[in-house]
Amino acid sequence: MSWGLRNRLSRIIRPETGRTVMLAVDHGYFLGPTSGLEQPGACVMPLAGYADTLMLTRGVLRNCIDSHVDAPIVLRVSGGNSVLDDDLSNETIITSVEECIRLNVSGMALSIFVGSPHQHQTIANLAKLVDAGERYGIPVVAVTAVGKDMVRDARYLALASRIAAEMGAHIVKTYFCEDFEKVSGTCPVPVVIAGGKKLPEREALQMTYDGIAAGAVGVDMGRNIFQSDSPIGMIKAVRAIVHGNASVDDAYAVYTDEKAASGVAVAGGSGLADDRKI
Ligand code: R5P
Repeated sequence: MSWGLRNRLSRIIRPETGRTVMLAVDHGYFLGPTSGLEQPGACVMPLAGYADTLMLTRGVLRNCIDSHVDAPIVLRVSGGNSVLDDDLSNETIITSVEECIRLNVSGMALSIFVGSPHQHQTIANLAKLVDAGERYGIPVVAVTAVGKDMVRDARYLALASRIAAEMGAHIVKTYFCEDFEKVSGTCPVPVVIAGGKKLPEREALQMTYDGIAAGAVGVDMGRNIFQSDSPIGMIKAVRAIVHGNASVDDAYAVYTDEKAASGVAVAGGSGLADDRKI
């Protein structure tokens, strides 16, 4: 592994704790104007100072994110499909490594769809991207996307995560599940968990806590932060668990304190939102 690649990796997984809070805001690449992300800049910029990385597409990065932002960028470079297609697995590489260098990214992210109609194509995409990334010292985050017919259990997620690592991914993003130790313990590279559909805040914090306890090095979380009634409160609370080993109760207090300080009624609703396909 080259010095440059190790340096970029250390900008994603913080050396102080060995953990990371990645903010995922790439949903529009196939969902269009996702709830909470209709105006990406307005959503992301207030959160950027609390995120270890921003995961997004080049279009949102170039058009909506200030170029003086401090947060390292993990650029989504796979796509080519939309929520209107029943088979989301038909993805290709949509952004060149040269563009990633121009955009000064710290990592590239690509989805693989194990068990879906285009699994071969997406796994081959990953292997090619790792070759390109290694050439220029850019790590690859493999996103183990789940097809609509796949069950998110430890057997399937361990299969997908291990395949991603075997193809050379430097970090694997997957979903939390029961017996998550079987996923993290059989994947030879760091694993981060996605947030998935919007949950009540305490449940999302419990999932974060359980994921870290079961071997995840952090989160790559989107909707459970930006669809919260206090996005800053939630990202601070998630950080308290990931980097500060806070209990769920203490992290929840971080969220409610921030929410109260920003004037949002603490007894507000859960903010549950349309999950659509992911
Ligand atoms: C999904 O393909 C996207 O890469 C999202 O970044 C991912 O699902 C994580 O976001 P969330 O926490 O909303 O699930």
